[in-house]
Amino acid sequence: MKKSIVVLAAVVFAISAVAAFAATDALVGACIYKFDDTFMTGVRNAMRAEMERQGGELEIVDSQNRQPMQNDQVDAYISKGSNALIVNPVDRTAAEPLMNKAKAEGLPIVFINREPYAEVMNAYDKIWYVGAKAEESGTQSGQIIVDYFKSHPEADKNKDGKIQYIMLRSEQGHQDAVLRTEYSTQAMKDGGFEIVELGSDTANWDKVQATDKMKGFISAVGVDNIEAVLANNDDMALGAIEALKAEGYNLGDASKYVPVVGVDATAPALEAMSKGEMLGTVLNDADNQGFAAVKVAVIAADGGAVTEESIGYKITDGKYIWIPYRPVTVENYKEFMK
Ligand code: BGC
Ligand code: CA
Repeated sequence: MKKSIVVLAAVVFAISAVAAFAATDALVGACIYKFDDTFMTGVRNAMRAEMERQGGELEIVDSQNRQPMQNDQVDAYISKGSNALIVNPVDRTAAEPLMNKAKAEGLPIVFINREPYAEVMNAYDKIWYVGAKAEESGTQSGQIIVDYFKSHPEADKNKDGKIQYIMLRSEQGHQDAVLRTEYSTQAMKDGGFEIVELGSDTANWDKVQATDKMKGFISAVGVDNIEAVLANNDDMALGAIEALKAEGYNLGDASKYVPVVGVDATAPALEAMSKGEMLGTVLNDADNQGFAAVKVAVIAADGGAVTEESIGYKITDGKYIWIPYRPVTVENYKEFMK
């Protein structure tokens, strides 16, 4: 009896020693381009959850969509002695000075969601990028429209064999906006459809701006002539749906429906899918992007080697962690609801 207690105590001690050893005391400083972004809020929550598991300290600040403010925030993290940085740049074309600040201190820096140019990524050895291949999401969202038109001949409302669509884009400098637009239209063509763009405009990833733009398109071309809406993200897709609902569309009457697809698989988008208001989306895996960014930052901060084994994610060219996208349709959307 006594002996087993001693053994048990030894085991408990050993386990807690391992746990104590495994926990990090790294201080990681993170900047998010703006807090008021649905998708990045998901990434932020995942980052916090991962750091909770790791035991270190994670500070996250809002760069309020201002690059100069973000540059100052990085300076502040450096002067307070942060051990690694995670940066979601406001402007991905302005990542170089941030890389240089980190490099001057030998600090690891992990960029997320907005990909710095290759020459910036190649100018330092303690730099990583965690994101997703925008091309994939474009192709998958276009494919959802193709599948819908193939299984619903009535979707071709004017019976001309072509898809008359609206494109809601985002800012020109963002790789996700440019590539999703390009690859989603390409997927419709590759699916065997001729396509006619009835309207295309930027709504800056934003739901309210998208509702406004969609109202403008509806009054310009007539809601009955719109056969599909593709949006670079879910917030803009949901904005377009608001405008359609205001016309009595996408409220359950099958003869008054416009298929709308987005990207992200945010909770409100999955909800809209469950109500039949939205056709589909593509999972932009906020959880795994957030987890991976923190794992890389902590291991690098602690001076460890960032490898596929140490982080548990595939690494390309030594510094890119690409988290796969997945199509989300009426068949599988429930899997993604939390
Ligand atoms: C997401 C958008 C988000 C943007 C922010 C994209 O990957 O799909 O929803 O607004 O990143 O940079
Ligand atoms: Ca048509």
